[in-house]
Amino acid sequence: MPQVDIKIGTQEKSFQCDEGENLLYEATTRSIMIPFNCTSGRCGTCRVRILEGRENLSEMGDREALRLGDEQIEKGFRLACQLAVYGDVQVEVPQPKLY
Ligand code: FES
Repeated sequence: MPQVDIKIGTQEKSFQCDEGENLLYEATTRSIMIPFNCTSGRCGTCRVRILEGRENLSEMGDREALRLGDEQIEKGFRLACQLAVYGDVQVEVPQPKLY
């Protein structure tokens, strides 16, 4: 069963889910708040950075690639609403810059 570790600011949350489940759905049903809006890869609100386990996630589709753009993809970002989890992953929810 894949383990998902999520870093949100100074907090770290973890859960296990069935293989192939959606990362955003699994997190939010456990009250782990990854910001989201459309849930269809259009708005970009659910952006997360993959720290480990990139190979354990579903491949990036055209819509996700278009929304993120090359620069964010190179920095390791994905859209949580588009991610199916197939193995252990560690992700970080970016925090707004206050200054
Ligand atoms: S919630 Fe809009 S892109 Fe994921």
